[in-house]
Amino acid sequence: MSQPLDIQFASLSGEMAPTIVLLADEGPAFGSAAKRLDERAKGALRKAADAAEFKGKSRSSIEILAPTGIEARRVLLLGTGGTKTELDRLRLGGAAFGLISARKAETATLVADPVDAGQVSEEVFAADLALGALLRSYTFEKYRSKKNDNDEDEKRDGLRTLTILCAKPDAAAKAFAGRKAVADGVFLARDLVNEPANVLGPVEFAERLQELASSGLVVEVLDEDDLKALKMNALLAVGQGSARPSRVVVMQWNGAKSKRAKPVCFVGKGVCFDTGGISIKPAGGMEDMKGDMGGAACVAGLMLALAKRNAGVNAIGIVGLAENMPSGTAQRPGDIVTSMSGQTIEVLNTDAEGRLVLADALWYANDRFKPRLIVDLATLTGAIMVALGKEYAGLFCNDERLAKELEAAGEVTGDKVWRMPLGKAYDRLIDSKNADMKNIGGRYGGAITGAQFLQRFVKDTPWAHLDIAGTAMDSGRNEINQSWGSGWGVRLLDRLVADNYERPEK
Ligand code: BES
Ligand code: MN
Ligand code: ZN
Repeated sequence: MSQPLDIQFASLSGEMAPTIVLLADEGPAFGSAAKRLDERAKGALRKAADAAEFKGKSRSSIEILAPTGIEARRVLLLGTGGTKTELDRLRLGGAAFGLISARKAETATLVADPVDAGQVSEEVFAADLALGALLRSYTFEKYRSKKNDNDEDEKRDGLRTLTILCAKPDAAAKAFAGRKAVADGVFLARDLVNEPANVLGPVEFAERLQELASSGLVVEVLDEDDLKALKMNALLAVGQGSARPSRVVVMQWNGAKSKRAKPVCFVGKGVCFDTGGISIKPAGGMEDMKGDMGGAACVAGLMLALAKRNAGVNAIGIVGLAENMPSGTAQRPGDIVTSMSGQTIEVLNTDAEGRLVLADALWYANDRFKPRLIVDLATLTGAIMVALGKEYAGLFCNDERLAKELEAAGEVTGDKVWRMPLGKAYDRLIDSKNADMKNIGGRYGGAITGAQFLQRFVKDTPWAHLDIAGTAMDSGRNEINQSWGSGWGVRLLDRLVADNYERPEK
């Protein structure tokens, strides 16, 4: 993250910055504070709204420069019409940030006096707006040493302090604290995905995660000797062509009342760069494979979020970190490896490496922690993008309840998942003549055969696999994300935990 946005809450009678964002509902209908401001401006705001035929439609806006009677340089009217859900509120906050930063204002005031807050309290309304603005504010600019004058990017010279005026500023600040913790997790995930692979290899990734101990996580780093002792040969095979050693990192958050309560477990694919190995990828677009650790980034971000908001749950995060390179020591197509589970794998395509990493990470997770559920995340297949585009991540699940919980969390957060099938007929496609299984299926159903492969390493534990190849990176800018690395999944899984696996009283 390049320049963090500072968000403050103050009362509706608080001081206002030169740039003011006012909310207007369908009509347009002004809230109490907006009405008072319009009175001071002798009706100039409403007059301008009428002249512009501004109707208060969702996220529509107009700008009124130097209105009479008010010191402000500009007032931005932002439509709230139809704002109902949490996601609507986040998007509204993101839209407010976008309006402000496009005008290069360093400070601004957002007046959160909704005509109709919907089903939520005023403080939740204000806190959601704040989270939306914060998520939108993220940029990754640490490697830009020169300012490009032709660049229209919003954050440069952008907003530093946003003050949100609302009815209950103290309650809003309190409600915002938990949301801020989740945003910190999203930002960690985005940072990790955006970082180039020369800077962030498996060792450096593990070092970053070790720093999370300062937030209260118990962090263990397993080096190659540890991984050899555990017989994680499938994971090690992926990294064996790289000059950079592989790692597995285990993060633990013990937030439940009882330390012995069964944990929920999250496992992430962390291929810091995926060249394809000896089955090398074509050059075009290969740079995107710096993001092939998006699953691991999400798991790290989630664990940080849970720790920072002091979640009442025991949670385990495990990431398998390796670099997939072609070299004289790289694995070859046709190699057979014995995974930690004892099952043997014929590696027919070294570019189907994510499942090799996860095979051992999933087995280890299940074996050591006996979790009540496992969710894995992986930028696993191009095929999932062929199936679902970039709107939904693929959800593969052996448990109806967990699948429903994930779908529900997806709808609320906007990190949407679409259920895909699993089954015997698909499973057969990865049987091998020479070993227990091969690491690729046939021509069709590539995302499904990838998931079937993973299922062979989770036994009967309730398990979900999220194929996030389309959503973790380059998934398109929107109201609450302007970054290539999206941080997809952190809010989804934080919500899964909060709604289903946390003790109610903190
Ligand atoms: N990391 C890729 C999948 C990927 C592709 C993620 C594009 C994000 C964007 C994965 O390791 C891979 O190469 N998968 C192969 C599997 C195939 C060899 C069975 C693929 O999808 O082509
Ligand atoms: Mn690959
Ligand atoms: Zn990969």
